[in-house]
Amino acid sequence: MMDDKTFALVTGASGGLGRELSEELARRGYNLILTGTSHRVELFAEELRKRHNVDIIARIANLTNREEILRLTSEINDNYDLFMLVNNAGTGGSQSFEKVSSEYLENIIDLNVRATTLLTHELLPNLKRQKRGYILNIGSMAAHNPTAYKTVYPASKAFIWSFSLGLREELKGTSVSVSIASPGAMATSPEITARIERQGFWGKATLKKTSAIAQKCIRQTLKGKRHIVINPLSLTLTCLLPDCIRVPILSSIVKKEL
Ligand SMILES: NC(=O)c1ccc[n+]([C@@H]2O[C@H](COP(=O)([O-])OP(=O)(O)OC[C@H]3O[C@@H](n4cnc5c(N)ncnc54)[C@H](OP(=O)(O)O)[C@@H]3O)[C@@H](O)[C@H]2O)c1
Repeated sequence: MMDDKTFALVTGASGGLGRELSEELARRGYNLILTGTSHRVELFAEELRKRHNVDIIARIANLTNREEILRLTSEINDNYDLFMLVNNAGTGGSQSFEKVSSEYLENIIDLNVRATTLLTHELLPNLKRQKRGYILNIGSMAAHNPTAYKTVYPASKAFIWSFSLGLREELKGTSVSVSIASPGAMATSPEITARIERQGFWGKATLKKTSAIAQKCIRQTLKGKRHIVINPLSLTLTCLLPDCIRVPILSSIVKKEL
């Protein structure tokens, strides 16, 4: 364990993968700053505090809002030493590009792309002040798979992939390492579970337990691993199949979700 006055920030900690990542960090004895958009994050922090002997701070912040991001990052920079930033909060879905509202599309870009970039930019000086610093960006297998009816979501995760590898290279030789995790389907909410069910065999075949994914993410981040691969088989197929074959196949699977 690090100096017990340092903290790890987990965004989107109130549910899904963020909750499991927070659980794993607390289990390892790390102090946490958790964010979510509702009181759910405060209730989870309370529950976690009872089970683990660590400091846990919960903050409600809508990370699609620039001012709320800057308020959160200045509070952290003014009051806490941060050794890990976990950019987990993210959103997406399967919808026809033509039929969704522009707000729906902007929400994906604002949370997945802009919030990750801004949080990292504002908190990097704090991470660099520590003996060792870690950034874990939660990407997706989707980053490598352009898909119809998802369009903006895979594109946002392709940004995270490129951003993570570029920043990792830029920070080479410093105390901060950047890791990117590429999970496939995770049954993190009833809506996503129903979506995976509708994908049929392929969706269910690639499904992994969220707690096991979280444990792997934290273990490999602390080892400074570049790319945290969750579904090696899917990734290998992705690399082997050319776009002209892969994109139509995946798109037809996603179409079944609609
Ligand atoms: N689930 C999958 O199949 C899957 C697959 C690959 C990658 N991923 C990626 O894994 C990460 C976690 O996914 P998940 O399925 O665990 O998500 P989730 O269950 O939908 O949870 C999303 C978390 O993000 C928070 N959040 C949502 N909108 C927000 C906003 N505007 N500002 C701040 N926080 C916000 C939510 O907080 P509140 O609940 O308080 O609103 C919640 O804690 C995401 O980056 C996702 O893209 C997921």
